[in-house]
Amino acid sequence: MRYVVTGANRGIGLELVRQLASRGDEVEAVVRDPAGAGELERLAARTPAQVRVHACDVASDSSVNALARSIGPVPVDVLINNAGVMGRMLSLEELDLEDAMHTFDVNALGPVRVVRAMLPSLLKSEVRRVVHITSGMGSIADNTSGGAYGYRMSKAALNMANKSMSVDLASRRFTCVVINPGWVQTDMGGAGAPTPVAESVSKMLAIVDGLSPSQTGTFFDYKGGTFPY
Ligand SMILES: NC(=O)c1ccc[n+]([C@@H]2O[C@H](COP(=O)([O-])OP(=O)(O)OC[C@H]3O[C@@H](n4cnc5c(N)ncnc54)[C@H](OP(=O)(O)O)[C@@H]3O)[C@@H](O)[C@H]2O)c1
Repeated sequence: MRYVVTGANRGIGLELVRQLASRGDEVEAVVRDPAGAGELERLAARTPAQVRVHACDVASDSSVNALARSIGPVPVDVLINNAGVMGRMLSLEELDLEDAMHTFDVNALGPVRVVRAMLPSLLKSEVRRVVHITSGMGSIADNTSGGAYGYRMSKAALNMANKSMSVDLASRRFTCVVINPGWVQTDMGGAGAPTPVAESVSKMLAIVDGLSPSQTGTFFDYKGGTFPY
């Protein structure tokens, strides 16, 4: 199967590419800056039949449209929108609204841009899976600790975008889901996070592999259960 993975130069995205390539899948690996993606470039050099690297800033319309041209007119089976930013963690009084807008642009609008640009390629496949890496912090029902305005709001908006896509694309037999990856040992999650990146990714791929159109619109936890919106 052919996957598109954004944010593929480090963290969860890089591990997604590693695991997909090691089991024989093809990956169009999307990074903001290929020059700074040494580990991914080495992986692509070792497995050129499976991993191709593309440049794209998901916060830019023109860059996302160029990504679709760079991938070309091939069928894409699964799109994994993983790229994301945390933004500044500030109190309500100190909130940096410019930073919150950028976080929203990357985390909520970025995935919508990428889905829109990749629709023709996804329609060339019968699989038609769209997976968004969200966060438990995007759950309104699970928010008991407050704060994190830009990040929480952006991921709640991403969850809503996924819900609308699941409705809009149901007649075309798409499966659109959001997955909470857990608290993961990456640059974003920090070294003190409890979940190794390989474990989060292997469990998320098990979910992705088993998806069926009847599950469209679901908010999954990486462990396999569902998460409350
Ligand atoms: N780690 C956790 O505990 C955790 C928990 C819940 C949810 N998540 C979610 O999981 C996803 C991956 O997180 P991670 O932990 O792997 O974070 P990470 O290590 O900080 O990696 C983030 C990735 O997103 C890319 N990115 C950021 N802005 C971008 C843009 N404008 N255009 C394209 N790519 C961009 C980064 O590229 P650059 O290197 O160029 O910046 C990087 O590849 C994110 O959506 C995050 O919100 C993570």
